[in-house]
Amino acid sequence: MEGRKAVVVGAGQPESDLLGNGRAIALTLAREGAEVCAVDLHPDRAEATAELIRKAGGTAHVIIADVGNADDCVRLVEESYAAMGRIDTLVNNVAINHVDADPLNLTVDGWHLMMDVNLRSQWLTSKTVVPLMRKHGGGSITNISTIGSKTGGGRMFAYSMSKSGVNKLTHFFAAAYAAENIRCNAVLPAFVLTPHSVEGLTRHGWTPSREELERTGVDNVPMGRLGSAQDVANAVLFLSSDEANFITGLEVPVDGGTLTMVGRYSKPAAAPKL
Ligand SMILES: NC(=O)c1ccc[n+]([C@@H]2O[C@H](COP(=O)([O-])OP(=O)(O)OC[C@H]3O[C@@H](n4cnc5c(N)ncnc54)[C@H](O)[C@@H]3O)[C@@H](O)[C@H]2O)c1
Repeated sequence: MEGRKAVVVGAGQPESDLLGNGRAIALTLAREGAEVCAVDLHPDRAEATAELIRKAGGTAHVIIADVGNADDCVRLVEESYAAMGRIDTLVNNVAINHVDADPLNLTVDGWHLMMDVNLRSQWLTSKTVVPLMRKHGGGSITNISTIGSKTGGGRMFAYSMSKSGVNKLTHFFAAAYAAENIRCNAVLPAFVLTPHSVEGLTRHGWTPSREELERTGVDNVPMGRLGSAQDVANAVLFLSSDEANFITGLEVPVDGGTLTMVGRYSKPAAAPKL
C-alpha cells in the first residue's frame, strides 16, 4: 500500500480496550504505507484513529460525515480526494443496528434509517469515487457486509436485508467497472468482539463476561474461536492490494468456517485423523 491513498468510512470507535473493525482497517492500511482519510460521524473517534496513525509515523486526515445523509456521502469522498490528491482505496465500514427488530416489529422509520446508513451510503460513496478512480487508472472498493447477509431469523431483519443489498451492490460495481480496473469486493465477518457488537448485546439485556463471549466462539465456530477486527482488516488489506488485482466481485467470509455450517446441525468434531 506504499504511496496509496485510502478512505476508511467508519474509521472510529468509542473508547474501549477492544479494537473495532474500522479502526483496525485504518491502522492496517496505514501500517502498510497508505495515507488514510479517517471518516466518522464522531470527531473524537476519527481523531483518535488518525492520531494513532500519526504516532506510528503515518499520514492521516480526519473527515466528519453522517453517512445517513446523502450529501455527506458525496462530500466525504470529495474532501478526501481534495486532501490526498487521489483515492486508490475506499472501504465502506459503517453499519448500525440499534433500531432493528424482527420483521413484525421493525418500524418503517427504522427500515429507512438502516437502509440509508448501511446500504444507500455504500452506493453513494462508491458512485462518487468511481469517476475519481477512473481519472487515475483504477482503484479498489471494499464493502463490509456480514455472514448474516446469508442467513435468516432473529431480530436483525433490516440489518441482514441491508447487508444482502451490500453484496449485490458489490456485484454490480464489480461488473460495471472491471474493464476500467476498478475492483469491488465484500468482506463478510462473523461475530467479532468489537465495542459496537458488545454494546449491541448489552442493549438486548445480555452482559456477558469476556470468557462467556469467547466460549461462543469455541462452541459455534468451526475454527473454535471468535474472529477479531484484525482478521477483518487483514482481508481488507489483501483485497485493497495489488496482490488482489485480478479479484473482483467476491464475497469473502471472515468467519472461521461458520458459513460452511449452514445446513448442518452442529459444529463438526475435530477433523478426522487420517
Ligand atoms: N462486530 C461484529 O461482530 C460484526 C460482524 C459482522 C459485520 N460487522 C460489520 O463491521 C462493520 C463495523 O462494525 P464494528 O462493530 O467493528 O464497528 P466499528 O468499531 O468499526 O465502528 C464503526 C464506526 O462507524 C461510525 N458510525 C456510525 N454511524 C455512522 C454514520 N451515520 N456516519 C458515519 N459514521 C458512523 C461509528 O461512530 C463508529 O466509530 C459494520 O459494517 C458491521 O456491520 C461487524
